[in-house]
Amino acid sequence: MPYDIVLLPGDGIGPEVTQATVRVVEATGVQIRWLEHPAGLAAVEKGKPTLPPEMLDAVKRHRVALKGPITTPVGKGFTSVNVGLRKALDLYVSLRPVNTLSGVKTRHEGVDLVVFRENTEGLYAGREHEVIPGVVEALKIITEGASRRIAKYAFEYARWRGRRRITVVHKASVMKLSDGLFLQACRQVAADYPFLQVEEMPIDDCAMQLVLDPTQFDVLLMENLYGDILSDLCSGLVGGLGVVPGANIGDTAAVFEAVHGSAPDIAGQNKANPTALLLSACMMLRHIGENVAARRIEVAVDRVLGAGEVRTGDLGGKSSTTQYTEALIAALPAAGEVSA
Ligand code: NAI
Repeated sequence: MPYDIVLLPGDGIGPEVTQATVRVVEATGVQIRWLEHPAGLAAVEKGKPTLPPEMLDAVKRHRVALKGPITTPVGKGFTSVNVGLRKALDLYVSLRPVNTLSGVKTRHEGVDLVVFRENTEGLYAGREHEVIPGVVEALKIITEGASRRIAKYAFEYARWRGRRRITVVHKASVMKLSDGLFLQACRQVAADYPFLQVEEMPIDDCAMQLVLDPTQFDVLLMENLYGDILSDLCSGLVGGLGVVPGANIGDTAAVFEAVHGSAPDIAGQNKANPTALLLSACMMLRHIGENVAARRIEVAVDRVLGAGEVRTGDLGGKSSTTQYTEALIAALPAAGEVSA
């Protein structure tokens, strides 16, 4: 029986990186029936709303989706499709593993951390309005319930993945009530995990510490806006937006997607790096229990980037998306060569 997985190619470089990813996943032999749906601008072009109800129904029914980036035009009254999708499916966990990749030269070696970001509230609740012309107000929503559930997810993840240390990132010295509540909820959850080391760190200090020595961190846990910013900072530590995977997870569905956006500057030019989406697909394969296939793809990425001959422009190479994809497929180890 093939797996039914919803595929949202997105727009910009989305169709290019999803096509490359599907090719590599299919080369592992895992049987997947891809149920393709447009979303965002691609849906509007087909006369549908940005989040077509049949697409949401498909993700709810099949529970797993692989998603390419979706453009959000600035200042056109177009609400973010990405935020809308997370809200509609209550994908409250944003999980982004950040790892040093072989052959990708960066300032720091041995980065191995995970960023957990609360995905449904904070300033991204989207509650802002004009008070009087020239004055706008944006509301930062923090609830005890949402803070506790993201903290619980992060602590459970740390427990099962053998991670030892959780850093809760905040700015409670200034946002005493909102960040104070987030911190308090994390402390309450932490009390159930006395075997994990927990520390609290102001966001500004954390940003500096990440740049100085990211290897000191293991799991980072924070509210929405801080997570958005710091996770991009973290991707810069290991080679940029083209190489960092991500997942948005709720209790009933999970959507796997790269950290980067639709990169309109290179869209349609066969230049995009599909690694981030491909590694997101590896997270997806593990989510459905196809651990060996995930590992085979990770080893192929390691081999191709490690050899340094075939790589896309963002990593200093000259290869096209297609050439890189073909090199990955050729470098896939046999199933017996890897252990999950
Ligand atoms: P972006 O991530 O699309 O691009 C930033 C820079 O990184 C650009 O120079 C781009 O060429 C480069 N880049 C990004 N991904 C790359 C890849 N895979 N390979 C090679 N180079 C890559 O960020 P930007 O320009 O701020 O956003 C563009 C659009 O994407 C906006 O409409 C934004 O709202 C949307 N976006 C969507 C996201 C999603 O669907 N999850 C996430 C972030 C942004």
